[in-house]
Amino acid sequence: MSETPQKRLYIKTYGCQMNVYDSERMADVLRPLGYGVVDDPEGADLVVLNTCHIREKATEKVYSELGYIKQMKGRKAQAGGKMTIAVAGCVAQAEGKEIMHRQPAVDLVVGPQAYHQLPELIARAHRATGERLSADFAADEKFDALPAERQVNGVTAFLTVQEGCDKFCTFCVVPYTRGGEWSRPPEAIEDEARRLADQGVREVTLLGQNVNAYDGGGHTLAKLVRRLARIPGLDRIRYTTSHPRDMGEDLIAAHGELPQLMPYLHLPVQAGSDKILKAMNRDHTAESYVRLVEKIRAARPDIAMSGDFIVGFPGERDGDFDKTLELVREVGFASAFSFKYSRRPGTPASAMPGQVDEAVKAERLDRLNALLDAQQKAFNALQVGKVLPVLFEKKGRNPGQIVGRSPYLQAVHAVGPDSLLGQIVPVRIESSAKMSLGGVLENQSLLESA
Ligand code: SAH
Ligand code: SF4
Ligand code: F3S
Repeated sequence: MSETPQKRLYIKTYGCQMNVYDSERMADVLRPLGYGVVDDPEGADLVVLNTCHIREKATEKVYSELGYIKQMKGRKAQAGGKMTIAVAGCVAQAEGKEIMHRQPAVDLVVGPQAYHQLPELIARAHRATGERLSADFAADEKFDALPAERQVNGVTAFLTVQEGCDKFCTFCVVPYTRGGEWSRPPEAIEDEARRLADQGVREVTLLGQNVNAYDGGGHTLAKLVRRLARIPGLDRIRYTTSHPRDMGEDLIAAHGELPQLMPYLHLPVQAGSDKILKAMNRDHTAESYVRLVEKIRAARPDIAMSGDFIVGFPGERDGDFDKTLELVREVGFASAFSFKYSRRPGTPASAMPGQVDEAVKAERLDRLNALLDAQQKAFNALQVGKVLPVLFEKKGRNPGQIVGRSPYLQAVHAVGPDSLLGQIVPVRIESSAKMSLGGVLENQSLLESA
């Protein structure tokens, strides 16, 4: 047993899955220093807010959260203790200096590529000397310097394989907050995946802002996936998020050939009007997107398509928006995320003429969501009567119930023993709702052996 008293670390994560991965890795970096993760910021020794800059609301949340944390810091100081407040993530990268200015209770600011420097930054903050802001873009250093050991919780895990973006969609801050596209070497990824599998992880989701642009010294994403599919115990592989432009033939083929590659694809399209897509600098048309989905479905007919949509981009007229609805009808999505366009400082679109009224955006979002919700319900209803392999992940809310995921990423509830957690088990689907499916174990003797 270590003699070091446990220091309490609270991490709050905003934004995308890359931030979820980064938060876990920050905990890994800090664990050897005696920090253990707690789920309440009150009284914590170190509070990390891992932030998101993608839309204005996401950024504003951080400043209001900092207001609460500052009060907790005050209470801790009154009791004779010290709380260190760190801001990490994309807001840290985009407006580090401004954060320190707007909220002086913040002790340090660390950008997404500098998490390996956390121990040093914390030490400096405690001495209250030197630079307390680290926001460079050396992604290779970050991954080399993070500890190889990861603490996994559960049977699924994220694994970042690619960071950054060179696409410069005119609405988006990511190329500025995460830097240019950069891929980790396949050897390092395989090593991390093997360690995860050894710790009981059955499903890994490969992450990247443009994950299908992965280029690891001669390895495309398809080649990387084939390599990881050979790891014993790693039965399911997913990847996100993809850009239509980088959906290569070999990746499409892999969907038809690799049983480990799950039939779910998040492929944001953003809009259905070519005029708007051009102004967004998306590099695809509505037509080319639809053709691409047809090709993917030829390789894997049952694939669940998912997407992102933005309504109310500058210059979007009613007729343009109708084309988004048309595209959605043509493709048929199993799930989707839709957003009102948010004007981000420094991006080209924020200076474009024809900014759309908030009320119009809200009305369009409602109409789009109604259509997407209906498609999601219809897709889920299609599963009723089928037997799906479900990877059970955790206990359900009701006693005796366990919850897992179908290949299509739907949550599935069933009555079953805890001994099935971590296993892939056939489940007969009996009911469906918008967000989940309900079923019974196909092999009822699994219930009796409990
Ligand atoms: N790299 C991914 C996702 C990036 S951010 C991709 O290219 O698809 C996730 C989603 O947020 C985007 O797909 C987009 O739909 C949305 N988004 C990004 N910037 C936005 C903005 N300024 N306003 C509203 N939504 C935005
Ligand atoms: Fe943003 Fe476009 Fe890059 Fe996605 S592809 S991260 S939307 S700039
Ligand atoms: Fe947000 Fe940064 Fe992810 S802006 S969506 S946390 S890459």
